[in-house]
Amino acid sequence: MKKLRLSLTDRCNYRCVYCMPECPEWGVKREILTFEEIERLAAIFVSRLGVEQIRITGGEPLVRRNVADLVERLGALRRAGLRRISVSTNGSLLARYARDLAGAGLNDVNVSLDSLSAGRFEEITGGGRLGDTLAGIESARKVGLPVKINSVMIRGVNDEEVLPMARWAYQENLPLRFIEFMPLDSRGLWSPDKVLSEREIIAKLQQEFAVLAEARTGDPARYFVLNGRVRVGIISTVSNPFCATCDRIRLTADGRLFPCLFSPLKTDLKKAMRAGGDADDLEARIFAVVTAKSSGFLERSVEQHTHVSMHVLGG
Ligand code: GTP
Ligand code: 5AD
Ligand code: SF4
Repeated sequence: MKKLRLSLTDRCNYRCVYCMPECPEWGVKREILTFEEIERLAAIFVSRLGVEQIRITGGEPLVRRNVADLVERLGALRRAGLRRISVSTNGSLLARYARDLAGAGLNDVNVSLDSLSAGRFEEITGGGRLGDTLAGIESARKVGLPVKINSVMIRGVNDEEVLPMARWAYQENLPLRFIEFMPLDSRGLWSPDKVLSEREIIAKLQQEFAVLAEARTGDPARYFVLNGRVRVGIISTVSNPFCATCDRIRLTADGRLFPCLFSPLKTDLKKAMRAGGDADDLEARIFAVVTAKSSGFLERSVEQHTHVSMHVLGG
C-alpha cells in the first residue's frame, strides 16, 4: 500500500454528471476530519504503513479553506518516507491557489477536463466555466506545478471529444488520460453501453495517429504513444480492470477508510480516533481492512458494487 487518497470534503462547486447527485446533501461539518486529525492519521499511514504518496481529493478539495497549509504540514512527513503530495481538482480554483500550493511544496496536480467545447463543458459540469479550468491549468504550469489531464469519456455525451482532446494535449504538450466511465455516479446515469471502452478510444485515436501501446506499469493508466511523440493514457477500470496491481487506499472526509473503490469493506477511523484510540489501535484497524480487501471490480458484478459515490470517495 503506497498511495493514500485523502478526501478533504464531499463538497464541490461543480455537479459533474458522472459524479455528483443533482441535489447533494453535504456531510455535517463536525463530522469532517480537522487538519490536525488528518495529520495524525497521515503520520500513521506514512511512518507505520509505508505510504509514500498522498493525493488530496474531494469533492473539490480546493473549496476547503487553507489547503496549502495542510500541504505544508503534511510536508513534514517527507522525513518519514513521504515522497509525493498531489492534488486532484476540477481546476476552477487553481488560478487562485496554484502559487500558494506550489510554495507549500505540492508536487503536482491532476485536473479534470472532459470537453473543450464551452457549452458541453457547462452541461457536463452542471454550470462550470471552461475558461476557469483552462486558466487554472495555465496558472499551475506558470508556477512550475506539473499538470496531468483526466478526461472521463461517456458515450452520447462527449465521445466525440477523443480526437479534439488528443490534438489539444499534443499542442499544449500536456499528459492526458482518458478514463472509462465507472459505475460510481450517484444519478444512475451509468450503464454498460455508456462506457466508451479502451478499445473504442484506441480506434478513434487510430483514425488520426499511429498508436503504439507501452508496457503496463503500476499506474492506473495504460499508455500509448501517438505518432511516436505524444503520450496518452487510458484508465480502463471497466473493460480491463487493474485491481491486481492496485496499491491505494481511500480516506473519506469524514474519516472512513475504504481499501477499494468497489468494495463494501471499510473502517471508521474518525470514530476510533475520537473515542481515544491510540496509534497502535488505528494501525491495527487500517491493517485489518487492507488485508481483508479482495480484488474489487474483477470479482464484483456491477449490481453488487458499493454505492458510495465518487464525490464522497474522491475518485
Ligand atoms: P497518479 O498518481 O497521477 O497516477 O494519479 P491517479 O490516477 O491515481 O489519481 P487521479 O485522482 O487523477 O485519478 C484518475 C482516475 O483514476 C479517477 O477516475 C480515479 O477514480 C481512477 N483511479 C485512481 N486509482 C484507482 C484505483 O485504484 N482503482 C480504480 N479502479 N480506479 C482508480
Ligand atoms: N467514472 C470515472 N471517473 C470518474 N471521476 C469521477 N467520477 C467518475 C466516474 N463515475 C474522475 C474525475 C476525476 C477523478 C478524481 O475521478 O474525472 O478526474
Ligand atoms: Fe466535482 Fe470532481 Fe465530482 Fe466533478 S468530478 S462533481 S468536479 S468532485
